[in-house]
Order: sequence, then structure tokens, then C-alpha cells
Amino acid sequence: MPDVAFINGSFVPLAEAKISIDDRGFQFGDGVYEVIRTYKGRPFALEAHWARLERSAAALDLTQPYSRADWTSHVLEGIKRATYPEAKIYIQLSRGAAPRDHVYPAQVAPTVVMTVREFHPLDKSVPAAGVEAMTIEDIRWGRCDIKSLNLLANVFARQQAKQAHVFEAILVKEGLVTEGAVSNVMVVRGGTVMTAPEGPRILSGVTRAVVLDLARSGGLPIQERFVTQADLYEADEVFLTGTTVEVLAVVRIDGKVIGNGRPGPIAQRLASDFTRLVG
Ligand code: PDD
Repeated sequence: MPDVAFINGSFVPLAEAKISIDDRGFQFGDGVYEVIRTYKGRPFALEAHWARLERSAAALDLTQPYSRADWTSHVLEGIKRATYPEAKIYIQLSRGAAPRDHVYPAQVAPTVVMTVREFHPLDKSVPAAGVEAMTIEDIRWGRCDIKSLNLLANVFARQQAKQAHVFEAILVKEGLVTEGAVSNVMVVRGGTVMTAPEGPRILSGVTRAVVLDLARSGGLPIQERFVTQADLYEADEVFLTGTTVEVLAVVRIDGKVIGNGRPGPIAQRLASDFTRLVG
């Protein structure tokens, strides 16, 4: 089955997809992106992804080339062409191609790239057992709310996690837990679900918002506030949320066992509520 690419309005086979070496996404990371999942051929939470794409683009003064309706129709067309029931859609919007100069070019058309590839969900044994994580100093810039192409600190964190044979790197800034390298982090203590507040220190995850809604409607107390690295080790439960990880319990951090070392009841409940919602 084909992996699909879309560049500036046209679908092309992925192997033939090319952009200019002058593209500012390539030269400067001057652009933004989204990652969207499909479930049984249907894209999940499109409106929330479009809203975040608009916020990210506006923060960088990027011209939006498409309306939400246009984006949606390109995504649906991509899904149709790729034919994967479980797909991962990557959308990238850069400022466009221009001779290298840090200052924005006076006139430039944005570059739009989309790929649709097969998504391989985690084996069921992974969420059933929970995963291990490590903490890493959060060395990212001061606008982590923008889903920008500049992911070097996240790349670095993921690589360290891989080398340590753990699933995710949990980022800690000045002693406070911000988020994961590719996920948001939620901590449960005494039945309350805590997660870092929206703002410049985290990416406001689409899954984060969905899971907080599920928690709220399930009557769970929520606190959007920072917890410390020490709180993490003392937590009853810790779990990750994200497009690629859904709701995923963390049972060991930096070698320390969280709770009883198994996915806790709140993570399990929210994971099954989430599965029901997307199913
Ligand atoms: N990442 N925080 C960071 C730093 C992320 O990169 C992501 C997602 C999230 C979760 O956001 P959402 O629930 O909207 O997926 C939080 C994507 C999947 C990626 O970069 O591949």
C-alpha cells in the first residue's frame, strides 16, 4: 500500500516528493507541524489540530495557505489514497523557499508538506505492563507552546531515552516537570490528576485536552499545575498522553518504581475511556 505525499497542492508518490534546499524549514526550522492519527480510516480530533496549527502559524507570522475546510479535504484525500486504516498524518508548514537570510523574506509563498504513512500501534502488551521513563533536563526554548520544526532538544532527549532503553524522556525545567519529549505527562496523587498548565513551557497536546475532558466528565479532580521531579517519584500513578502514545502508564522513572509498579486504576480507566472514544 502506498505512502502518500502532498506538496503545495499536489499529491505525489513519496519517493518523488522534493522541496528546495532553500526552504526555510530546512535552513532554519522556520515552520510548524502537526501529527494526526486515523482510527479505522477516520482522522481523530481534526478541529483541535487545525486550531493548534493556526495558533502555531500565527505565533511565527506564517501565512496560512488553507482554510480548515481545505486542510480537511486534503487530509481526507490523502487517507483515501494511502488506504491505511491506521495512519499517521504529518503536516508541515514552512515559511517557504528564499535565499538564506535570517530575516523574513519580503515575499515568499509558504511550503506545505503532508505525508500519510501506515501507523503501527504499540503492541497491547506495552500499555498492559506500562513503560519506563527517565528524566532529562528540559533545555528547550521559551515557546514550547508553538509546535515548531525546531526539535533538536526533543531529538536529543529521545536519543538519550533510547540509549537508556526506556520508552520516554520526561523533561524537567528548574525542578518542575514540563512534559515528555513527544508526550504530555500526567501525575496522580490521592485521586487528583495533575498536569503542567498550558503556557510557553509545554505543547498543549490535543490528547491532553481530550483526556482532561474524560477525567472531568468522570468526576476526577484535576489540577493544571506543575509538579516537581520529587512529586513524580512519590506519585500514585504517572501516565503519558499523546497522538502516538494515547494514554500510557509509566511504571518506573529513573529506576524508581511508581505506585505498585503496574498501571494504576486511573490511568487504566482513562486509557479505556480514550479507546472507547476513538473506536
Ligand atoms: N508530538 N508534547 C510534545 C513535546 C509533543 O511533541 C507532543 C506530540 C505532545 C502531545 O501532543 P498531541 O497529544 O497533540 O499529540 C506533547 C508528536 C506526536 C510528534 O512530534 O511526533
